Amino acid sequence: MLPSFLAASVALLAIGAQAVPQQGGSGGYGSGYGGQSEAASSTYSYAASATVKAAAATVSQAAVSTSTVACNNSPDLCNRNYNNITHMGAHDAAFLRNAATGYTVSGNQFYNATVALSAGIRLIQAQVHNSNGTLELCHTTCSLLDGGSLETFLTEIKTWMDNNANEVVTLLLVNSDDLDASEFGSVFSSSGISKYGYTPSSTSAMSTWPTLQTLIDADTRLITFIASITYSSTYPYLLPEFTYVFETAYGVSSLSGFNCTLDRPSTVSSATSGISSGYMGLINHFADTAEALGITIPDVNDIATTNSPETNVTGSLGTHGALCDSEWGEKPTFILVDFWNVGPAITAADNLNGITATGRTSVSTNVLSSSSSSSKAAAGLYLNGRTVAAVALAVVALGNFVWL
Ligand SMILES: *[C@@H]1O[C@H](CO)[C@@H](O)[C@H](O)[C@H]1NC(C)=O
Ligand SMILES: *[C@@H]1O[C@H](CO)[C@@H](O)[C@H](O)[C@H]1NC(C)=O
Ligand SMILES: *[C@@H]1O[C@H](CO)[C@@H](O)[C@H](O)[C@H]1NC(C)=O
Ligand SMILES: *[C@@H]1O[C@H](CO)[C@@H](O)[C@H](O)[C@H]1NC(C)=O
Ligand SMILES: *[C@@H]1O[C@H](CO)[C@@H](O)[C@H](O)[C@H]1NC(C)=O
Repeated sequence: MLPSFLAASVALLAIGAQAVPQQGGSGGYGSGYGGQSEAASSTYSYAASATVKAAAATVSQAAVSTSTVACNNSPDLCNRNYNNITHMGAHDAAFLRNAATGYTVSGNQFYNATVALSAGIRLIQAQVHNSNGTLELCHTTCSLLDGGSLETFLTEIKTWMDNNANEVVTLLLVNSDDLDASEFGSVFSSSGISKYGYTPSSTSAMSTWPTLQTLIDADTRLITFIASITYSSTYPYLLPEFTYVFETAYGVSSLSGFNCTLDRPSTVSSATSGISSGYMGLINHFADTAEALGITIPDVNDIATTNSPETNVTGSLGTHGALCDSEWGEKPTFILVDFWNVGPAITAADNLNGITATGRTSVSTNVLSSSSSSSKAAAGLYLNGRTVAAVALAVVALGNFVWL
């Protein structure tokens, strides 16, 4: 879905921007963190780590027979094949809608990747752009929303993985500027995260992936998919996404629009054909709202329904997941949602996995917003320290608008 911006939208937004309160930069992460107390939030990332580290030590001695040791938050998942698990994912994980971004409506998540991992999210998705030679996590264009450098992002994820040795993490990066594998590879190396990179035994779709325990024992706990990258034997852990994964449609604009039909890659004829050839299914379960003149933003108004684990509600994640499980004869391996804390979405994945999770940090399921009544205007019109007029001009210059 690539709606072009119109010159008229620039004019409209430029007028609106005059009413913008200069809110960016006020407040901070701490004040908005799930409404938890300072004490609770300051321990969130390490309480779970200590447990898992101790657990990992046990595993190396007692191996797989120790049923109390959790892998990805459940002992039941240790001996399950990676592709027989639903990995819950944060869509556009670097684009935050919080106090630090002035609650920008371009943001897809209320909490950052580290908080997401501690809360049980195991798939982190981001868009990578070439910003003057540096790989940056930008939203459509680096002047709209820049979530920081890929290197910083990977370093943070690596630190979390260092502290959580029994956890298998999946990355899904969109190669927005068609960069070479070597450009990603050098950042994976410099961040140090490449040491966890898993290289599959096959360069084509595989119906049997290792168990989590096998990945953990080998300490190859990072599975990295990159959309539209050319495989390089120098960086064999950077996996071309559509060699292994198919996706349902994205850019869904109504809660009744979610289905389990294969959208990409076009080389695979259907979801069931993909499944039988060893592809893993990814469901895109986030909705966009059309604003004026071709701009779409994440649909936060319906998010409680969208992310609900209930299986009897139209448009809920529970319903979508169960439908795909039934249509495909296999549960989705990956799910991407916006605002993962709402629902909580991860309950739908736990239900598909048939587990009761342990070792997660609890995060508020609330929608975050500025408490003042001006929050909507602030969010809509003041993005990342620039006015929307400037943003719109940059997008017009780029020519199109790509969300995923
Ligand atoms: C992620 O968010 C938490 C909670 O707001 C904060 O303490 C932490 O510093 C953030 N991490 C990064 C890498 O920004
Ligand atoms: C997937 O895991 C479930 C639960 O352990 C198991 O019953 C099922 O046989 C597994 N499927 C495959 C294809 O291994
Ligand atoms: C891009 O890099 C070049 C060379 O380092 C520098 O001269 C230029 O100012 C940079 N442009 C931006 C927009 O940062
Ligand atoms: C599946 O959903 C997408 C997005 O809503 C839609 O474009 C497509 O037509 C749907 N396919 C079927 C077969 O319903
Ligand atoms: C869905 O099921 C739940 C119980 O799991 C029930 O409380 C709720 O009323 C049901 N909602 C609808 C719309 O049927």
